[in-house]
Amino acid sequence: MSTNRASGFKKPISFLYISVFVLLLSVQIEAATKKYQFIVEVKNVSRLCHAKPIVTVNGRFPGPTVYAREGDRVLINVTNHAQYNISIHWHGLKQYANGWADGPAYITQCPIKTGSNYVYDFNVTGQRGTLWWHAHILWLRATVYGAIVILPKQATPFPFPRPDGEHIIVFGEWWHADVEEVVKQGNALGLPPNMSDAHTINGKPGPLFPCSEKHTFVMEVEQGKRYLLRIVNAALNDELFFAIAGHNMTVVEIDAVYTKPFTTNALLIAPGQTTNVIVSANRTPGRYFMAVRPFQDVPIPVDNKTATAILQYKNIPTTVVPLLPRLPSPNDTEFALSYNEKLRSLNTPNFPANVPVKVDRSLFFTVGLGKSACATCVNGTRLSASLNNITFVMPETGLLQAHYFNKKGVFTVDFPDKPPTFFNYTGAPLTANLFTSKGTRLSKITFNSTVELVIQDTNLLSVESHPFHLHGFNFFVVGTGVGNFNPATDPAKYNLVDPPERNTVGVPTGGWAAIRFRADNPGVWFFHCHLELHTGWGLKTAFVVEDGPGKDQAVRPPPKDLPAC
Ligand SMILES: *[C@@H]1O[C@H](CO)[C@@H](O)[C@H](O)[C@H]1NC(C)=O
Ligand SMILES: *[C@@H]1O[C@H](CO)[C@@H](O)[C@H](O)[C@H]1NC(C)=O
Ligand SMILES: *[C@@H]1O[C@H](CO)[C@@H](O)[C@H](O)[C@H]1NC(C)=O
Ligand SMILES: *[C@@H]1O[C@H](CO)[C@@H](O)[C@H](O)[C@H]1NC(C)=O
Ligand SMILES: *[C@@H]1O[C@H](CO)[C@@H](O)[C@H](O)[C@H]1NC(C)=O
Ligand SMILES: *[C@@H]1O[C@H](CO)[C@@H](O)[C@H](O)[C@H]1NC(C)=O
Ligand SMILES: *[C@@H]1O[C@H](CO)[C@@H](O)[C@H](O)[C@H]1NC(C)=O
Ligand SMILES: *[C@@H]1O[C@H](CO)[C@@H](O)[C@H](O)[C@H]1NC(C)=O
Ligand SMILES: *[C@@H]1O[C@H](CO)[C@@H](O)[C@H](O)[C@H]1NC(C)=O
Ligand SMILES: *[C@@H]1O[C@H](CO)[C@@H](O)[C@H](O)[C@H]1NC(C)=O
Ligand SMILES: *[C@@H]1O[C@H](CO)[C@@H](O)[C@H](O)[C@H]1NC(C)=O
Ligand SMILES: *[C@@H]1O[C@H](CO)[C@@H](O)[C@H](O)[C@H]1NC(C)=O
Repeated sequence: MSTNRASGFKKPISFLYISVFVLLLSVQIEAATKKYQFIVEVKNVSRLCHAKPIVTVNGRFPGPTVYAREGDRVLINVTNHAQYNISIHWHGLKQYANGWADGPAYITQCPIKTGSNYVYDFNVTGQRGTLWWHAHILWLRATVYGAIVILPKQATPFPFPRPDGEHIIVFGEWWHADVEEVVKQGNALGLPPNMSDAHTINGKPGPLFPCSEKHTFVMEVEQGKRYLLRIVNAALNDELFFAIAGHNMTVVEIDAVYTKPFTTNALLIAPGQTTNVIVSANRTPGRYFMAVRPFQDVPIPVDNKTATAILQYKNIPTTVVPLLPRLPSPNDTEFALSYNEKLRSLNTPNFPANVPVKVDRSLFFTVGLGKSACATCVNGTRLSASLNNITFVMPETGLLQAHYFNKKGVFTVDFPDKPPTFFNYTGAPLTANLFTSKGTRLSKITFNSTVELVIQDTNLLSVESHPFHLHGFNFFVVGTGVGNFNPATDPAKYNLVDPPERNTVGVPTGGWAAIRFRADNPGVWFFHCHLELHTGWGLKTAFVVEDGPGKDQAVRPPPKDLPAC
């Protein structure tokens, strides 16, 4: 099957408790438990002509793939031998009533301190497909990340023709310098830290970068076969375009939800998102470049360098020079909008799109850049970011603990449902009056109520595309648009039948996205921009979803080994 799997991946110790009982003459197989050991440790890794120590899991970069089957219990024992406190997020897993295993530091847990360990214990329920895991503290996810593959239940086929093989493809960003030093320097000045020096595909930048011939990911295919590519964008700050020379891709799944298949010559993927595609090896056997480069349609500097990998047909000599694909240009807004427009939930009886039709709670959040006072910074201010003009202040203890144990004074639940002032959000850039208010303010949501949230980009300093990620839930992207959301006319254009269901949405540059979800998962759930730069500047908040009345509708008791602050 997958070469990633074959190349040295240690199979988890799995115990399959098979209890067979006859139920209408069918055989039911009980869930297995998958166990993993994650040792967080510093290793020297050589890229772009020099070696540097990076934080890894099990000494590997990218880290190990977590394999599970829908219905499994997963136990991941994370032991921290790095000099930093750490926590790991299982991005896209719903963690029903079990925020203790979600991972964002100071939101659902205190970090795992150097020398200690914590076992993430969760069930994989009602989900199958590609997700990923990453560090959720500081900028450590720059090197601490890996894929999660959830196979469908036994004997449940994919809703598309069975591929002959599969490959995992994870995009990332690489810094020459120590990422934490880079961030510290940026924060001290109140400016964006230095951009990354390279993009990577499976940790490798590819031959367009110096000293990178041997740091090139090669994916071998056989003529006439069909492959499932499980693609993850683990980059910190870049939405990416991806294409394979000479080969179209058929999109079949996003964020571990099946989609109506469509064929495209390039795809767009925001940090946090995953995309599964089918590629047919139906061209003249040869070597073809796969390439990835950012989408950035405003004049904000990004690392715009192209990472490449090679799709290589079996038995082709490696001396054959590959062709480069044509990627959309970095400012191709039209491609980005039309690509996202094609994404639709599969919405079949087996995989229905349960879109909330009636809305119990309507929220409207503006996204903006702004400033905060900072005595030591350039010109006495630092860049900050806000939702509804609030720059989120990180607490010093886990919010979920504070909620569960009813500890006062850690957060308030008065996050406003609307921005404090209405203005022409996407009109001329606002460059005055940019100071924001600050607080650890959350929204309280009634158990099992339906929520609509419109995320509106604004032109405070600059418009920009923001990938927003919600923990604990998938949501439906019922509408998107450019300009200001119009509550009188836009809802009539919503797709309430087969909108894309996902956990991270790219809000269009100078536009809006409307998402809906049913708040049926009690806990404290982080909601943030998945550009690490913006998260660090305060572009985040959390939802407190109350417990329901039923006995399985309350936040579970915390595990005994939950780290303390
Ligand atoms: C890691 O690489 C750096 C720079 O090349 C070197 O100075 C250091 O000794 C190496 N450390 C280890 C543990 O190999
Ligand atoms: C987790 O791993 C550490 C060693 O890295 C070990 O000491 C500890 O007992 C393990 N915990 C569990 C519950 O297996
Ligand atoms: C996982 O599922 C099992 C079986 O239903 C249950 O006993 C256990 O409490 C669940 N664990 C979590 C973390 O939800
Ligand atoms: C950031 O880039 C500047 C300019 O290239 C360089 O002088 C500085 O050392 C870099 N910072 C870090 C932490 O590497
Ligand atoms: C890719 O798809 C486009 C249109 O969807 C089509 O015109 C083109 O021929 C296809 N290319 C290949 C190599 O299949
Ligand atoms: C990439 O960014 C650099 C500056 O960061 C700029 O000079 C260059 O023109 C950009 N290249 C492309 C293709 O956009
Ligand atoms: C996109 O960038 C190209 C090259 O930098 C430029 O020629 C073109 O005008 C830009 N297009 C738009 C719509 O800004
Ligand atoms: C600091 O202020 C000067 C003078 O107004 C301006 O030219 C410069 O761009 C400012 N720097 C930053 C980083 O805001
Ligand atoms: C908002 O600003 C845009 C761009 O300047 C303008 O076209 C639009 O008419 C303005 N809308 C309102 C309601 O003023
Ligand atoms: C944001 O809040 C600050 C501090 O209260 C205020 O000065 C500013 O006008 C507000 N900005 C907006 C756009 O609401
Ligand atoms: C949530 O509400 C829906 C619609 O009323 C209902 O079908 C469902 O059973 C409820 N779920 C829970 C967990 O109470
Ligand atoms: C690690 O986390 C603990 C608990 O939150 C905190 O007290 C300590 O300062 C942190 N250490 C570092 C190096 O950040």
